[in-house]
Amino acid sequence: TAQNARIKIDVDRTVGNVHEHLYGNFVEHLGRCVYGGIYDPGNPLSDENGFRTDVMEAVVDLNPTIVRYPGGNFVSNYHWKDGVGPVDDRPDRMELAWNRLESNHFGTNEFMDYVKEIGTEPYFSVNMGTGTIEEAQQWVEYTNVKEGPYYAELRKQHGYPEPHNIKYWSLGNEMDGFWQMGHLNAEDYAKKAREAAKLMQLTDPSIKLIAAGASNFRPDANPMEWNRVVLEELKDVVDYLALHMYVGNPNDNYYNFMATPLVLEQRTHLVKGLIDEMMSRADRGERDPIYIAWDEYNIWYRWRSEETMTGTRALEEKYNLEDALVISGFLNALVRNADVVKMANMAQLVNVIAPIFAEEDGIFRQTIYYPLQLFAQNMHGGESLDVYVDSDTYDTERFFLGLGESQAQLQDVPYLDVSAMYKENGEVYIAVVNRHLEDALATDLICQTGNFTGEFEVYEVNGPDIKAGNDFSGEQVRTVKKENLAVGDGERVTYSFPAHSFTLLKGKVS
Ligand code: AHR
Repeated sequence: TAQNARIKIDVDRTVGNVHEHLYGNFVEHLGRCVYGGIYDPGNPLSDENGFRTDVMEAVVDLNPTIVRYPGGNFVSNYHWKDGVGPVDDRPDRMELAWNRLESNHFGTNEFMDYVKEIGTEPYFSVNMGTGTIEEAQQWVEYTNVKEGPYYAELRKQHGYPEPHNIKYWSLGNEMDGFWQMGHLNAEDYAKKAREAAKLMQLTDPSIKLIAAGASNFRPDANPMEWNRVVLEELKDVVDYLALHMYVGNPNDNYYNFMATPLVLEQRTHLVKGLIDEMMSRADRGERDPIYIAWDEYNIWYRWRSEETMTGTRALEEKYNLEDALVISGFLNALVRNADVVKMANMAQLVNVIAPIFAEEDGIFRQTIYYPLQLFAQNMHGGESLDVYVDSDTYDTERFFLGLGESQAQLQDVPYLDVSAMYKENGEVYIAVVNRHLEDALATDLICQTGNFTGEFEVYEVNGPDIKAGNDFSGEQVRTVKKENLAVGDGERVTYSFPAHSFTLLKGKVS
């Protein structure tokens, strides 16, 4: 008889605290993310602010812990002053990144109203493409300075007497990408970002800054060199390095696709090594180390054709079960690296490669909504554990991660992909993807310090087959709460993880 797989949990083998910002999201002025997504004035489903209430309810249930705004590629030609003040006075602009007309009816203050309604942390990006360092400084003055200087007073005139106190700011978006408006080489970007950082921090010393790290992983790019130059120049002024990654399944190879989150993990390890090498504890002094923010990640490939890349319905990807499993794998990889990854933002919140899909008269939750929700509701505030996993493995063939991406090849990919977290109160959370297409995997869960006690709550995301998806006619892929798993008071319990599933187990160790 085949041997059971094994997962060993040792609550002493901690990796780092799992930050709630791992389950952030992103709102860009792109397609129908803002207009026709979160904001739809005149729609009977919208409130007096123009916010779609059905969308908002799904957003609140998703519990996005930090939301990045306003782009993305959009921000590299965005001038924030266009989007404040009386709505009728705001200019229409050509939106060059995604080929739309931007009315500017939604801007800084509308986004901050939204953030307050949904109860999340805002994270702004400044324009380091066509924008100036002065504009970046003035934006911080407008949002964060209580009173006195011109832009603080302007905010007050616009009906916001109190500052918004936006803490997180990134210094541009994907500045390593040739597609970025105002794209710069690494040295020029780092110098411009450094000067912007100086002005922004003089305006509000309490802000946290995020540098634009590598997003361009095409075969002819040199992402680690970009990261090295940027860190060298900015390491004493920034708190995070931002990385981006999108994957796809262009050749419809399920097992290759399932392995793509491990490439995010490899890249995390490489950048962690670079940060360690460049910043000794002595260099850091009292400061926290520089962390990684995966501030864009997702699955994005079907809607990358010419016709669907731009315009008002750009990037409206529809997701299925295999996509939900890949997202579960991404989230596991983030938790496993919780020592260095302290923020991540799924791109994006609504309609645009998103967990929530809205039309004028309603919404549905995409498959990828469910694992993200389980993590966001449960998997933070404790210590990530270094879990031992013993399961059968497979090798991938050489494959493209997604369109425009470099190739990867991974050996010994375990069928079981696992992360775990332990809280001081004894709670333990074990997140497991069974990548196996056909087989349930009987698994011994072994507690190496103390005993499991009581029962495990069991939540499962699965569906009839890997191509099953959700739409307005129903949701075939969603979270199902299964029967509790009795553990008694022992160091071992066996659970069978169904084929192509994601499972979250929630229990106690004593
Ligand atoms: O999320 C879609 C786009 O992907 C973002 O605008 C950009 O930053 C990235 O290339």
